[in-house]
Amino acid sequence: MSFQIKTFEEYQDAYKRSVENPEEFWGDVASNFFWKRKWTNVLNWNFTEPDIKWFEGGKLNITENCLDRHIYKNGDTPAIIWEPNDPSESHRILTYKQLLTKVEQFANVLKNNNIKKGDRVCIYLPMVPELVIAVLACARIGAIHSVVFGGFSAQSIADRINDAECKLVITADGGFRGNKVLELKTIVDDALMQCKSVDKVIVLTRSRTPISMLKGRDVWWEDEIKKVETQGNPACPAEEMDAEDTLFILYTSGSTGKPKGVVHTTAGYMVYTGYTFANTFQYQPGEVYFCTADIGWITGHSYIVYGPLSQGATSLMFEGIPTFPDAGRYWDIIDKYKVNILYTAPTAIRSLMAFGDEYVDSKDLSSLRVLGSVGEPINEEAWHWYKDKIGKGKCPIADTWWQTENGGHLITPIADVTPEVPGYALLPLPGVQPCLMDENGKEIEGNDVSGNLCIKFPWPGMLRTTWGDHERCKQTYFSTYANMYFTGDGCYRSPEGYYRITGRVDDVLNVSGHRIGTAEVENAINMHSDVVESAIVGYPHPVKGQGIYAYVIANHHIDADKTRQDILQTVTRLIGAIAKPDIIQFVSDLPKTRSGKIMRRILRKVAENDLGSLGDTSTLQDPTVVEKIIEGAEKLR
Ligand code: WT7
Repeated sequence: MSFQIKTFEEYQDAYKRSVENPEEFWGDVASNFFWKRKWTNVLNWNFTEPDIKWFEGGKLNITENCLDRHIYKNGDTPAIIWEPNDPSESHRILTYKQLLTKVEQFANVLKNNNIKKGDRVCIYLPMVPELVIAVLACARIGAIHSVVFGGFSAQSIADRINDAECKLVITADGGFRGNKVLELKTIVDDALMQCKSVDKVIVLTRSRTPISMLKGRDVWWEDEIKKVETQGNPACPAEEMDAEDTLFILYTSGSTGKPKGVVHTTAGYMVYTGYTFANTFQYQPGEVYFCTADIGWITGHSYIVYGPLSQGATSLMFEGIPTFPDAGRYWDIIDKYKVNILYTAPTAIRSLMAFGDEYVDSKDLSSLRVLGSVGEPINEEAWHWYKDKIGKGKCPIADTWWQTENGGHLITPIADVTPEVPGYALLPLPGVQPCLMDENGKEIEGNDVSGNLCIKFPWPGMLRTTWGDHERCKQTYFSTYANMYFTGDGCYRSPEGYYRITGRVDDVLNVSGHRIGTAEVENAINMHSDVVESAIVGYPHPVKGQGIYAYVIANHHIDADKTRQDILQTVTRLIGAIAKPDIIQFVSDLPKTRSGKIMRRILRKVAENDLGSLGDTSTLQDPTVVEKIIEGAEKLR
């Protein structure tokens, strides 16, 4: 890992070089990977279209970088350690050699099922090694994967499948999460009633839940593998991909409309996830690295699968939840496998903190060397507990700020290399040029200032487009400020020049580290037959970071408690349980301006119970609405 930065001076040098001579800088980093043919041009870009190309002319396959190239020296190194949901079930270890064999086998299964380069494949699997195998098998043959998190509903799956016109779905009979079984195949069956593009479903056996298997459409994973085995040659050559060929689509929520398919391409994403993984966590050969995310989110794509594997690391994946069978589960896993690097989310830290120290104290966590945090701002109390209780005061914490669209870490401390300050994502990684912008589109220079966080210059892991709708990509990220990528986050830069992310400045919520669009939840609530109109805002929640507060205008005759339950069920059916409001307040009216726009600022203040600073309400159509809403809110508390 010759691109690993070891000291603060090296960081400063690398940063300087990456800004003054980005092409040389990233060209050098990229030389650490395996190319079938070298690139002719490191970077070609403009942020107006936007049109961004990294390593143009380069030919490669990301799976050769994640698997084949490690085989000769490190074939027997564990690539994946899998810890099952139920601790009494045996764990599994796949060495790089074994993982490659399985990926090649399954890649041949995909080919047998008529999947070719460029085809889209939807993956809806629990956190089992076959999920990694399926993802890499797609990449092996150049098929584009679209992984859908196991908590999303049939409707959400259908929307994603239809948007990308997926040909095939890979799922399991069911998945285990704590003491629950997720009925994955049944949910897929419901989704597929709306999807014309899918003609095959490959079903992995996991829970042995009874499911329907449709003749001609549904086949078993295990049977398909047997077919490949009897066909003789198990190898599957890696498809030669262009640097800018699409690697995957991952859907994420924004402030308007349906989730959009963020498109990541092959070479830039590979280089960026590998570089950031090796640097942020300072991974050393032989270490065990444990990221608690689900592969259904970008954190799992970049920092369970592609980043660690491209660096030959041992990546531990966990099927279950942090509180099953008890709130000591993460600490048991760290103890059991002697985990060196733990990467988790503030929401998990806060929830485990609340169970008390006895779940931690009896476990041996001395193997831990580096801690990571991701997904939302980490509050100081959680930061210190993580630092002292889990890291015993000796492990650096990398508070990694980034987004689905970014592919990998943008602003983060580098473990033991750069300083750390609780609550601060700190400094940009080499190649990342952040800036703060004011309301008038002007850059805010200097320190001890706040503004909207933008990035001035491309980095290899950034999104290239949104699937099927390039205009939407342009509008969402590149139109707010000329020649800038706009993150949607607010940010403070301290007197030392350190960055502290203050949260979204748009109508996007961050609930337990998951991004949820207010418009999406409103649309779902409005589908309920008794709902006239609704408005969603976030409010501070002790464990989730943000909770979802729904103001709902409903028909008069309703039974409030019953309708509340029905609304929750409607949201669960249309999006998934993660989008369920925490609080539903029925109101007779919403505060609207004379032009009919909902004044969310006021709704937010009421939800936060911050009534002292409601601000100017004189421009409302009917200012008395606010008093009624405050009264109603008090009754709910
Ligand atoms: C949004 C992106 C890719 C990470 C997983 C979530 C917030 C993320 C941090 C952090 C403060 C953070 C931002 C960002 N966020 N990490 N370390 N500190 N805020 O990815 O679903 O694309 O959400 O999560 O608001 O915009 P995502």
